[in-house]
Amino acid sequence: MQKPQPWTLLANIGQLLTLRAPSAKPGPRRRSDLKELGIIHDGAVLFVGNKIVSLGATKDARCDPWIRKRRKQIVEIDCAGKVVIPGLVDSHTHPVFLNPRLVDFEKRIAGASYEEIAAAGGGIGSSLESVRTAAKSALTEKVVAVLRDMAAHGTTTVEAKSGYGLTVASELKSLESIRDGASQWAGTVVPTLLGAHVVPKEFKGCSQKYVEIVCTEMIPRAARRKLAQFVDVFCDQGAFTAEEAEQVFVAARQHGFSVRAHMGQLSETKLAPFLRFDPASFDHMDHVSEDDIAQLRGRDTVATLVPGANHFLGLKDYPNARRLIDAGVPVALATDYNPGTSPTISMPMAMSLACTHMKMSPAEALAAATINGAWALGLGHRKGSIEPGKDADFAVFDVKDYREIPYWFGANHCALTVLNGVIESQN
Ligand code: NIG
Ligand code: FE
Repeated sequence: MQKPQPWTLLANIGQLLTLRAPSAKPGPRRRSDLKELGIIHDGAVLFVGNKIVSLGATKDARCDPWIRKRRKQIVEIDCAGKVVIPGLVDSHTHPVFLNPRLVDFEKRIAGASYEEIAAAGGGIGSSLESVRTAAKSALTEKVVAVLRDMAAHGTTTVEAKSGYGLTVASELKSLESIRDGASQWAGTVVPTLLGAHVVPKEFKGCSQKYVEIVCTEMIPRAARRKLAQFVDVFCDQGAFTAEEAEQVFVAARQHGFSVRAHMGQLSETKLAPFLRFDPASFDHMDHVSEDDIAQLRGRDTVATLVPGANHFLGLKDYPNARRLIDAGVPVALATDYNPGTSPTISMPMAMSLACTHMKMSPAEALAAATINGAWALGLGHRKGSIEPGKDADFAVFDVKDYREIPYWFGANHCALTVLNGVIESQN
């Protein structure tokens, strides 16, 4: 893997979106703060190694004595006519699988629902065999390819879940493949154990036995080997009940994990009983009551919305982002990259869907895809905005105005990505 450059100046930036904090209070952005992008026109950013040192107007950088003195050593990248944003943070992905689910795709086009397909033997259950029998190296190769593709679209931080093995050995192997893949990529990867994705068919009718394995074997072993930072659970009809999800959370907390959950994707689950675990995020949130929205107000649990899943499943309804934002709940956007509901690695696509279908403004979508994604992963102090001392993670888009990023849907206008100070040109 490349080493970070010693000193680099991104200069003449048409629009530099700093996303710097509108208030001194740390934490995810809510309400009108979500659209504060902190734009600098004709901006410049200096980074040294993997950290941001300074930023401001290009003309000020040109007169800065420190920069002038080192002019010869500083590599300058001309960003004239371009937009520079903090590296995108994809805070919800499932990259450890091998095959696309093309038969499911056709069945759904022909009218079957996600739940019907899963009940008939498709869905998550049909991705398990290939992961269980795969060599770890094959899974790692897949993870690396996905991470590279994500970086090519502007993503520099990725949360990556296991969840397509659903045996102790194959879940640990999946987490190892995430760890090994991450070591071959310059960006930042946050691993999550999703052993409680669905009940595998060997445990049909005795889900409690499987939950026990997750709680007494998978979680402790992943903790001992420091293979994950979060534990996730898919709590919904066809997956785990609220009681089972609570059991998983209790075990996760006992072993030092932070928790997050797939909630309200297909049906509503009451969120209040889970708040004692201080979840980093509730993801999907298609079905959520007014009571629960009120409970989330003011808390740092992020509602991570994944409109790629609604789009790919052909749903007419999307999560009510406006309601959540207006109520003061912090909202993030992610791809939910996975073979069943959202086979996209593109954060700009997720932003575009959020604008068109969830009525988020381009500014809100950008903040949700950067700083709030960072907070959803507990990385808000290091990632998600361009401020001195933060990690040198940037995406340079070959567009004049940031609103073009979600506007040109389906096309990739990312020209360059900087991941922890490592520059990767897409040309
Ligand atoms: O986030 N809902 C649970 N997990 C994924 C779907 C996984 C799959 O179908 O393979 C999701 O939508
Ligand atoms: Fe998911």
